[in-house]
Amino acid sequence: MEVIEILRKASNKIYENVKDLAGTEHAAGDFGRGAGGDISRNIDIIAEKTVLDYLKEINFECVVLGEECGRVELSNNPKGYVIMDAIDGSANAVRGVPFFCSSLAFATENKLSSITDGVITNLSNGEMYWASKNKGAFFDEEQIKVQSRDPIYKIVGINTSGATTDLMKRLCPIFENHNHTRHFGANALEMALFARGLMDVFIDFRDKIRIQDIAAGYLIVKEAGGLLLDADLNSLDADLSYETRVSFIAASSQKMLDEIMGQINQ
Ligand code: IPD
Ligand code: CA
Repeated sequence: MEVIEILRKASNKIYENVKDLAGTEHAAGDFGRGAGGDISRNIDIIAEKTVLDYLKEINFECVVLGEECGRVELSNNPKGYVIMDAIDGSANAVRGVPFFCSSLAFATENKLSSITDGVITNLSNGEMYWASKNKGAFFDEEQIKVQSRDPIYKIVGINTSGATTDLMKRLCPIFENHNHTRHFGANALEMALFARGLMDVFIDFRDKIRIQDIAAGYLIVKEAGGLLLDADLNSLDADLSYETRVSFIAASSQKMLDEIMGQINQ
């Protein structure tokens, strides 16, 4: 089976196993801090176990880098890394806000830029976004591209969760400048919406986001034709370590990037 099919199958299994859990007491059960540093909730554990069980069942030779479970070596001769955020947007999932997803990616080396496959499933409705390197990005079976027209409403996604006062001051003009700013609470799914052309820019400049949260989105955004840059406006890349935190901006075009960057206080 091709890697993308394995990831899609695993992602679909997560959906089947957690779709009725959001907002329930059962979802919220506390399992202490996971490898990514946040409290692992029961819904996170169920979703991760679904993937690990499936990869073991099909003997997929890989190293899993899970947000909760940490590094799990499923083979002595791995083909690469499965970068897993089984539930992205855990706070939404636990509260029952219908905006959370799973994010699974496969990388051949210890670098974001070596990601070859990525899948994000909207776990509130089962919709799937996926991409393989040089083969395009898809929403279910339909190919997707970032927004190429001047939109009727310019939608700028900005992750402001836990942002410092300094960062909010820098970003302030974006809020003031007749943009329609949005923050939904699950970075991976926000990157998927951006890739589908439903947002024109998506910014996370908090220096907080983990590799697991953006790995699949990284490839889907690129395969949909988006610009994906770090805070210094270099092409985004990073290693896959648990300590790594990144900042990034995804823009649908150079014009959109220049316009929004021109609004940020330096
Ligand atoms: C979180 C989401 C959220 C972002 C947080 C992440 P998690 O992921 O992506 O949008 O603001 O920084 O931790 O913890 O729900 O997998
Ligand atoms: Ca998570």
